[in-house]
Amino acid sequence: MKKRVTKAIFPVAGLGTRFLPATKSVPKEIMTLVDRPLIQYAIDEARAAGIREFIFVTSRGKSALEDYFDHAPELESELRKKGKTDLLEVLKTTNMDSGAIAYIRQHKALGLGHAVWCARRLLSDEPFAVILPDDVIAAETPCLQQMVEAHAETGGNMVAAMEVPAQKTSSYGILDIKEDMGSVVSVKGMVEKPAAGKAPSNLAVIGRYILTPSIMENLTRIKSGAGGEVQLTDAIAREIEASDNVYGYRFRGQRFDCGSKAGFLQATVAFGMAREDLRDEFTSYLSDLMSSRSAAQ
Ligand code: UTP
Repeated sequence: MKKRVTKAIFPVAGLGTRFLPATKSVPKEIMTLVDRPLIQYAIDEARAAGIREFIFVTSRGKSALEDYFDHAPELESELRKKGKTDLLEVLKTTNMDSGAIAYIRQHKALGLGHAVWCARRLLSDEPFAVILPDDVIAAETPCLQQMVEAHAETGGNMVAAMEVPAQKTSSYGILDIKEDMGSVVSVKGMVEKPAAGKAPSNLAVIGRYILTPSIMENLTRIKSGAGGEVQLTDAIAREIEASDNVYGYRFRGQRFDCGSKAGFLQATVAFGMAREDLRDEFTSYLSDLMSSRSAAQ
């Protein structure tokens, strides 16, 4: 029987330099889309996919993240006194069961692969998910849930993939496809940021993964070899060579790159417009803005 995916790693130890000066004191993952921090979207997606254990790889200056998942007794009693039950319900979504959440430090930002490797002792002999909270995905069925369902059929390693225009392949890891089965593709190679015209496909890897324990062994080997950043992609590429068990999954949904300013702004507009309580006012503001801009041109 295939093992269920119940643990997820959230690598949040990056420096977030693209959002300086904000990220000098605010972790990128605490920045808010409408009224919820990025990390809340990632946690909700993981919960929907059946994840029960949440492992954060953090670094210096990320204590706001740890506080976010703690109880807030004074705030809660104040809201209770004032009868604000709806806000108490909202607060509940940030609570974690005791022992469900673990924090481990990455002492130096040595790359995503290194961050994932830091969590190795918290995993057992079962597949685990990796979620990058700065990739926010709007989807009817949450992306990781789609992947867990597909993974129950395929086993092995699975990366979330999306089609990108040819001129954008140089910004992503791109899959070299062995067999295209529709939502799932089997993969015979991965190329990091290929120049336009050199890409083996237009399927780009984004920040959701389901990985097997042997990825950790690969990361250990890479770590003891390379000097600079340890790439997760390299560990997955080794798995393709050794075991031929890597799949891409074309998820249904829209991904926003909230690690970039333009992506964050696009997500803010899209999530603002999707919210029932804001939709009318926000949409009419945007359409007035657009018409006054085009009138001025
Ligand atoms: P990014 O490539 O977006 O890097 O990392 P960053 O440091 O967060 O942001 P910029 O580029 O300086 O603006 C992708 C994901 O990998 C994590 C980040 O926290 C983010 O979730 N990461 C990256 C680590 O946890 N450790 C690292 O050493 C590097």
